Amino acid sequence: LHFKGEPRRLEGQRVLVTAGGTVERIDPVRYITNDSSGKMGYAIAEEAVRMGAKVTLISGPSALSAPEGVQLINVQSALDMREAVLARLDESNLIVKAAAVADYRPSVVSEQKIKKKSDSLTLELVKNPDILQEIGTLKKHQFIIGFAAETERLDEHAMDKLNRKNCDLIVGNDVSQEGAGFSGDTNVVRFYDRNGLVEALPIQSKKDVARRLLELAADRMHTAAG
Ligand code: CTP
Ligand code: CA
Repeated sequence: LHFKGEPRRLEGQRVLVTAGGTVERIDPVRYITNDSSGKMGYAIAEEAVRMGAKVTLISGPSALSAPEGVQLINVQSALDMREAVLARLDESNLIVKAAAVADYRPSVVSEQKIKKKSDSLTLELVKNPDILQEIGTLKKHQFIIGFAAETERLDEHAMDKLNRKNCDLIVGNDVSQEGAGFSGDTNVVRFYDRNGLVEALPIQSKKDVARRLLELAADRMHTAAG
């Protein structure tokens, strides 16, 4: 795939992107999920291909189709996503974790449809593994970008996640802000590194956010390589 006039700044890089929300089964006909559309992650995968990278996209269920030139791997649950990511960790140079991973899953998945009985039903949830934190611990050569979706105290929460999860960059977005967040075609984001705020972007398309993020990563990956 070649786009005339595009600077191929990720030529030769292997990029792994996660996108969409995970689905956590309750029984054969019910599940828990979240509002993620997958748009941000799919835009990142598409832009990475334009910049010359070999791109694998690991996605929770999404209405979007795979961007041209991207290897799409569909997953359902956080546990499935974790397995798919870990299997491709060594071969990846740049990992972008845009997925909205469910924090909890039902402690048991009922094999049969749960029948309506008493007036209340308590569902026990257990914490899912934190995939980003895990790859932050395991990482060697990989450049890692995380996301932080917040509704308050964005700078503080984003920096806390960057440090806790050992990311090279984190994309903070205030999902309560107009034009930001899960479902729309635009986003309002801030990029942070270990030293704090790098850039605060005005509202723009998810495609432009993706482009700017990957440019920043490409600059820093080349610096890191010497
Ligand atoms: N993430 C992950 N695995 C999880 C939860 C989150 O890999 N089980 C990743 C997301 O893909 C994202 C980053 O961690 O890149 C931050 O996700 P977010 O939901 O904002 O943070 P949490 O650590 O889950 O904290 P909280 O939801 O309490 O704000
Ligand atoms: Ca979370």
